[in-house]
Amino acid sequence: MIILGINAYHANASAALVADGRLVAAVEEERLNRVKYAAGLPTRAIRYCLEAAGARLKDVDHIAVPRDPWARLGTKLRFAVRMPRFALDRIRVMRRFSGIREDLARAFGVDPQEIGATFHRVEHHTAHMASAYFVSPWDRAAILSADGLGDFASAMWGSGQGPQMRTLGEVTFPHSLGIFYTALTQYLGFWKFGDEYKVMGLAAYGQPEFLDEFRRIVHAGKGMSFRLGLRYFSHQTEGPEMTWRDADRTPVLGRLFSPYLERRLGPARKEGEPLGPRHHKLAASMQAALEEVMISLWRSLSERTRQKSLCLAGGVAFNCVANGKIFDQTPFERVFVQPAAGDAGLSVGAAFTVCHQLLGRPREFVMEHAYWGPAFSASKIRGALDSFGVPADEVRVAELEEKPLLESTAQAIAAGKIVGWYQGAAEWGPRALGNRSILADPRRPEMKEILNRRIKHREAFRPFAPSVLEEATGDYFEQTHPSPFMTFAYPVRPAKRFVIPAPTHVDGTARLQTVSRSANPLYWKLLRALADLTGVPVVLNTSFNDNEPIVCSPEEALDCFRRAHMDVLVLGNIFLEKRAASAVAETAGGIAGRTA
Ligand SMILES: [Fe+2]
Repeated sequence: MIILGINAYHANASAALVADGRLVAAVEEERLNRVKYAAGLPTRAIRYCLEAAGARLKDVDHIAVPRDPWARLGTKLRFAVRMPRFALDRIRVMRRFSGIREDLARAFGVDPQEIGATFHRVEHHTAHMASAYFVSPWDRAAILSADGLGDFASAMWGSGQGPQMRTLGEVTFPHSLGIFYTALTQYLGFWKFGDEYKVMGLAAYGQPEFLDEFRRIVHAGKGMSFRLGLRYFSHQTEGPEMTWRDADRTPVLGRLFSPYLERRLGPARKEGEPLGPRHHKLAASMQAALEEVMISLWRSLSERTRQKSLCLAGGVAFNCVANGKIFDQTPFERVFVQPAAGDAGLSVGAAFTVCHQLLGRPREFVMEHAYWGPAFSASKIRGALDSFGVPADEVRVAELEEKPLLESTAQAIAAGKIVGWYQGAAEWGPRALGNRSILADPRRPEMKEILNRRIKHREAFRPFAPSVLEEATGDYFEQTHPSPFMTFAYPVRPAKRFVIPAPTHVDGTARLQTVSRSANPLYWKLLRALADLTGVPVVLNTSFNDNEPIVCSPEEALDCFRRAHMDVLVLGNIFLEKRAASAVAETAGGIAGRTA
């Protein structure tokens, strides 16, 4: 039985395919059409999922779409009267959804009648919750979804047992933790869609001196509830407006905060205005306010469900700084965060909702890794390299067996070189987890600045992340709960902060990826080789891209390698090294004699 999940017609379009109860493939459309946060019908993602399953569209039994126009109809109608523009926009989106069969038929060149699949509409937060619980390792768990807005709700919680989830409550529009965070992100001068994580990084630089005021902007209620101080916001009167930039088709969210917020907190930071201590304090206060509410929700959910395991999804679940506090601040002992916690993950959640909740099929799948995207065979990689035309006088190329490949890569990293690491299947979700990664030496304090200058061109305040051998997590971090999808930030042990300064943030934490041998054997072996060479089982890991979606194909990796100031590219078993030794010149002598 084949179930296709499709998140379509809004940002983070994606597709996922479940066959006989197991996930076969999942990918965001942006990886394939190269448009960041791509919307529309994800035809390339669907095509890839079908190919991975060896199926055609007419073989699909069920198509699950994570949007339910009938959900909370009363609330929707009430607000539609107050916000006619927003209501019209919603009606337009609904029309698109009702034509999805025809759109699919057109895109795949078949007659609509040939698509025999049953179509299912899955409510937005049900799909978020399912995207975490139904692929988690547990047979019983508490579940929480929190985001900006979906089907007119911003949070939903419940419990899972076997193949069924039970919803226990929800928070509806206009109250929303996601809208709170995005509004304040805009207020702090970050207007790009998806910039919230930047402010999360900024928060570490200040103290939450405005927390009292922020408690008026958002606060936890009794039990499982929270409220926005609506005077600080404009979305409840004007509706959250989403438009699309002509230049690159990326989404733009309209202003969410009100003039009252500026009267209370001072003028909003203009885009590009220098960041100062006031902005740091504001960001810290915003993060602290979010954490207070999240901790309250988690504690209440624990009390309500009496579960020790917690499953998280929805965009707020990307707040790894808050997530890192679950273990000290709540009774939960185990947490699973869906790697595509944002709306891309809805395709997985919708498909599994149909599989279990609707069809009652027993659970037999656990998402033990995030490598569900396209993979390219050795011959395809070789072919890409041949057709790309790498000039021999500029790049040294060697095909290596696994052991010398790992040793050469570890040596390059330890020597301060910047290494593109392209292996296996692309990651599902926004994090590079060791298959489409740029790797560097975490021991060099200057590496953050070098990476920013040469490749990433990011704001200087943003931290880079480490990957660590899972079995060494406790040696370097104050928490040991696995973080395979980079969704938790933990304090680095004080004695180790000088050992891995490059990915240690200013507040002494790091957003780590724990790497197990079973989840990614080759990446695990690379960390092992690095540990043998340097004594430190950690590597700085940032996404393989340069102001674009993460590379997917070997051609894109080669193109990024050529454009960016990278020194080495490990493309499958092929080791490419630029002959101009720029990294060595910049970083030589920075590490000699330093040990763990
Ligand atoms: Fe969502």
